[in-house]
Amino acid sequence: MTITPPGRPTRCVIDHRALRWNLKQLRAQVGPRVKILSMVKANAYGHGAVAVAKTLASAGSDAFGVATVEEGIELRQARIKQPILVVAGTYVEQLPELLQHRLTPVLHEIATLKALDQRLQQLKRTMAVEIEVDTGMGRIGFRGSEIDAWLPVLARLKAVKLQGVFSHFSDAESANEPYTKKQLNDFNRVLERLRAAKIIHRASHMAKSAAIVTEPNAHLSMVRPGLALYGMYAAPGLRKQIELRPVLSWKTAIIQLKQVPAGTPIGYNRTFVTKKKTLIATLPLGYADGYRRLFSNRAQVLVRGQRAPVVGRVSMDLTTIDVTDIKNVQQGDEVVLLGRQRSGIIGADELASWANTISYEIFTSIGARVPRVHNFI
Ligand SMILES: Cc1ncc(COP(=O)(O)O)c(C=O)c1O
Repeated sequence: MTITPPGRPTRCVIDHRALRWNLKQLRAQVGPRVKILSMVKANAYGHGAVAVAKTLASAGSDAFGVATVEEGIELRQARIKQPILVVAGTYVEQLPELLQHRLTPVLHEIATLKALDQRLQQLKRTMAVEIEVDTGMGRIGFRGSEIDAWLPVLARLKAVKLQGVFSHFSDAESANEPYTKKQLNDFNRVLERLRAAKIIHRASHMAKSAAIVTEPNAHLSMVRPGLALYGMYAAPGLRKQIELRPVLSWKTAIIQLKQVPAGTPIGYNRTFVTKKKTLIATLPLGYADGYRRLFSNRAQVLVRGQRAPVVGRVSMDLTTIDVTDIKNVQQGDEVVLLGRQRSGIIGADELASWANTISYEIFTSIGARVPRVHNFI
């Protein structure tokens, strides 16, 4: 049952059946022996981390990935029991929270790794951690090519227990990309060096959504999908290999209809002026909800299954569309900003193209004030 909050009709509807379906498709790609760590950072890519993680946990997700300690605590407080990896930075001052909530930090460089080990020894505690190896992203992580410098540090750790080693692909969206092959080879070489040095760890992982499909050799002991769980393709070419179902729809409704004559300016700075008699509908959402200002005079929405253009500037809380061509349109009509309506569809990739961005940014920019309505059946 979908329970829609009363009042402002702007909301995201999250389809948990599609979420379970997507996890099942990913499971089919990797087989039963490879673990799946579901990336639910950034509020599960804007879909609602707690509800999403609960569904994925009950559908067989083996672990979860978040960016921050705070995101991990939110999951623990919601009784998520699976291992939770904190991928985007470790701060030694958060050690009490990491220990209390059994979160697994990722270490990226020597200084923090040593500081963590020392602090744990002082507390007479041990802790499982993972390390990230930079094989070609050039951001955080121990550089694979500098393993001679950091491997001896790993070997001397006392309280820190290495549980996993991972790396991240830069460009895995198409199959047979030489850079992807090179990253995987470099990572495998690092794993061999660790094995040779008898630095034992249980998990090694590398594949995000795209690589799960394009690079089966990168499945290793675990994969880390994000975008695919939410039903989106990291590249159009992947459609042929896996059937994913979009999870999030973004909807609102018309709160006012206004017939205006030719020559009427619409919105801030008069960027749109009607050329003929026009029916303008106003929608109760704006850039403060994540409906980007770049959509002004570019994006389209669905009304009664038909497309209607956004006209004038998107304001902070309101957006105007031209519904002159929509037959029988009425105040209160549902408007779909992202998703399906009758035979019409606006995908996250299309929405992203109107703001020169990617679906990831569209999802994670949907504002906190937009209720997520979870449909579990
Ligand atoms: C370390 C790490 N692993 C996995 C992912 C998931 O990537 P995707 O959403 O493309 O599957 C991300 C996302 O940015 C990430 O930062």
